[in-house]
Amino acid sequence: MADMSSRSRFKASAVVDLSSRSRFKVHEEVDAVVSASLPTLSHRSQLHYVNACLLETMRIRTLVPIATHATAKDVMVNLHSLHMDPAYWTDPDWFDLGRFLDAEGNVINKPQSFMPFGGGRRVCLGELVARMELFLFLSTLLQSFTFRTPEGAPPPNTDGIIRLTVKPHLFQLCAIRR
Ligand code: HEM
Repeated sequence: MADMSSRSRFKASAVVDLSSRSRFKVHEEVDAVVSASLPTLSHRSQLHYVNACLLETMRIRTLVPIATHATAKDVMVNLHSLHMDPAYWTDPDWFDLGRFLDAEGNVINKPQSFMPFGGGRRVCLGELVARMELFLFLSTLLQSFTFRTPEGAPPPNTDGIIRLTVKPHLFQLCAIRR
């Protein structure tokens, strides 16, 4: 698992398709750890690729790009720029699960320059719930389906529509039962 580097990296425009090698690894891990049961939170510490997928997705498309605080002065915290800072993230436009896996293949939960839920006293109140839900949602979907864009369909536009949060452009996706 330690060699999740160049071969499993792919441009953000291919996020949905995942590279075949990464997709195989994620599915292989879910099958090995969860087997025939449904994923539960007790599997969380063992599903390293699933966790790395979630973290890298939250990095490359920061859901809340700007956090605004009204204190004695108005303060804007640019979380997007933290997540795309080349001083901390090599080739930040590339989706790379290896960023969140250490040499033993364990998840790096709190790397530098990574704050998808903000920080300090105004940190997201829903962080724990959101992390649990995202894990259960993604691992359950990956257990049952492979996702691909339909034959001949344009690749998804992954720029995102920026409002208070970033939401995706419409795209077509096939969920193929495994
Ligand atoms: C992937 C999901 C989520 C992300 C990435 C996210 C991210 C954020 C961020 C960046 C902030 C601003 C933090 C700051 O100002 O420094 C925030 C604030 C907040 N979030 Fe979330 N959030 C998520 C889900 C949720 C959920 C599910 C809930 C509720 C159950 C929630 C409730 C809140 C609340 C109440 C605040 C305001 C906290 C305050 O100003 O004191 N969030 N969130």
